[in-house]
Amino acid sequence: MHPHRRTLSWGGMDSYKIVALPGDGVGPEVIAQGIRVLEKLAETHNFNIEIESIDCGGHYYAEHGIEWADGSFEKCKAADAILLGGVGHVVDGKTVFTEPGKPYPQSQLAGFAQVIGNRQKLNLYANVRPIKLYPGVPQKISDRFEQVWKPEQVDYIVVRENTEDAYSGETFDIPDGKQTPINITRTATERVVRYAFNLAKQRNKLGKVTCVDKSNIVGAHAFFREVFTEIGKSEFPEIELDYAYFDAFCLLQLQQAHVYDVVVAPNLAGDVISDNGSFVQGGMGMAPAGNIGDDHAMFEPVHGSAPPLAGKDIANPIATLLTVAMMLDWLGRKHDDDNLTNASLKLEQTISDFLAEGSLLPQDLGGNGKCSQIGDAILAML
Ligand code: NAD
Ligand code: IPM
Ligand code: MN
Repeated sequence: MHPHRRTLSWGGMDSYKIVALPGDGVGPEVIAQGIRVLEKLAETHNFNIEIESIDCGGHYYAEHGIEWADGSFEKCKAADAILLGGVGHVVDGKTVFTEPGKPYPQSQLAGFAQVIGNRQKLNLYANVRPIKLYPGVPQKISDRFEQVWKPEQVDYIVVRENTEDAYSGETFDIPDGKQTPINITRTATERVVRYAFNLAKQRNKLGKVTCVDKSNIVGAHAFFREVFTEIGKSEFPEIELDYAYFDAFCLLQLQQAHVYDVVVAPNLAGDVISDNGSFVQGGMGMAPAGNIGDDHAMFEPVHGSAPPLAGKDIANPIATLLTVAMMLDWLGRKHDDDNLTNASLKLEQTISDFLAEGSLLPQDLGGNGKCSQIGDAILAML
């Protein structure tokens, strides 16, 4: 046992407590593979893990009128890390929303409590979304696969502000419609841009952070850029400051993926560019993410519940497995536990080997591997 590691409270000595929130649609299918892999790595890398799955999301709301059982948020708060699938449930072709006033002032995607609630209430201020291309992964922008990028050219990280901007949950009536405020505060901007600058320092790659916003017209985004520039110049003089507007950036990141290192953006812009950028890493089925705060973290693939794929065992589980690797890396650093750090490295290398070997690629990468078969294969390789 590492001398600095604390004794974890929930599962006895040295046990990491993970709350799994499978959610809706393909969420439970990909999280099932994530849990199998986690349990296997605990065995092979000598750490204890206790996983509690909590049923939640839109399907839960449709049945119970609440998004999860009472006490679930407290369990998330007490956990060492949270692993989320995706929320968003469709009934009769319509997405399930909460009723206005119950429990939010406005109607919201049912599952808001898990995604936005946890991000905001646990202060998970940096949504870290790596865009990395692994060998053997084809890109598909039209109806055919095409190798536009080489793996060594694509390796950057989007850091998305994760607690404010247009995500307040507030909407006000105006004479001819509705208004949703865009709030950008100094406190939230400083902490997320510092996170991005420190990440660029730690990566030691291009030594560059690109601020992606709509500061040419949205005043609150101009403020975000101003704070970015101020913190960059005063605290990180060795890092190059770079800028782009997010409409143009959607194209730039596809045309010149190789020039980026760390990208920081306000919440809504960061949401858009991380989906868009997933093209160069093989699509949404390949995009992992971590919502990181100082005390808590929640890991979830970038994608949602993908309703058309649900129940068919055809979703790509790799985004979730890479997300599990991010979770192990974060836990390993936080608890100074080499067993977890090594498990993270082993998992990422295994996924990379699996993709390079290429005989069981998932359907979104042009193969016919099923979600559970890919889980089986990765487990066997571990
Ligand atoms: P989505 O991310 O679910 O799907 C977008 C596209 O990516 C679709 O073409 C889908 O088939 C594909 N895709 C997604 N995951 C995949 C996987 N694992 N393997 C292969 N292909 C995959 O986005 P959407 O369709 O706009 O949203 C569906 C629901 O999910 C909505 O209710 C939305 O609000 C919700 N959503 C939730 C989260 C979250 O919980 N974090 C994130 C995004 C969207
Ligand atoms: C994401 C999703 C969420 C977001 C939705 C489901 C609220 O798109 O995690 O990227 O906008 O943050
Ligand atoms: Mn999104």
